[in-house]
Amino acid sequence: MLVRNQPSKRAQRLAVAGSVLAALVAGIQPGFSETPAPDTSARIAAARAASKDLGETLKGQLVAAIKSGGPASAIPVCKTIAPAIGNETSTKHNLSIRRTSLKVRNPANAPDAFELRVLEDFVKKLEAGADPMTLEHSEVVSTNGVSEFRYMKAIPTAAEPCLACHGSDLKPEVKAGISKLYPDDKATGFKAGDLRGAFSVTQKIK
Ligand code: HEC
Repeated sequence: MLVRNQPSKRAQRLAVAGSVLAALVAGIQPGFSETPAPDTSARIAAARAASKDLGETLKGQLVAAIKSGGPASAIPVCKTIAPAIGNETSTKHNLSIRRTSLKVRNPANAPDAFELRVLEDFVKKLEAGADPMTLEHSEVVSTNGVSEFRYMKAIPTAAEPCLACHGSDLKPEVKAGISKLYPDDKATGFKAGDLRGAFSVTQKIK
């Protein structure tokens, strides 16, 4: 390797220009490799707001149910409220939002081809050191002449309250409650910080 004590003026200028460009790109589009059209920026903002809303509402309801009757009693609550809150949030934000995962509890939450590709990409990025709190992806997908805006945001596993129902060391009554309602459950064995799944937004582009 060539070692120089005094880098040339040109090399210095290039290095400065490079870092300014990198900072600009990072500042405009955190987490995105491509610059979306202005129209897409508004959709991304709405998708982020809906994800935050759904996450906070679900967690609030879950924590309240656990507080009043323990995690086992919160399982049937979750089964009923999760899809209902998903529908309410979709209507409120004028888009379609749901949760999905590579390891689902409810088979109805299984990923479609796009979601599978993005979840697998999230796993790779997390392994490479990405922050799970900011991991997201958006894309306009066109199939048979129909364009859809798609957005996904990673859902990390928190120690509390998630591990009570998604961890490795479940209470016997929690285990029993889950296998009764979800005989094909794949959503246990997670550790704090693992990728639990993702919020997934779809919006038709007219
Ligand atoms: C009281 C038990 C309980 C706790 C605590 C809990 N979950 Fe779940 N989780 C469930 C149930 C039940 C489902 C299936 C819901 C359905 O039928 O759609 C589920 C489904 C999910 C899904 C959708 C994908 C799938 O597996 O079907 C995600 C994502 C998820 N949970 C994340 C979390 C996160 C993150 C936390 C912590 C903030 C958490 N959960 C805490 C019971 C729980």
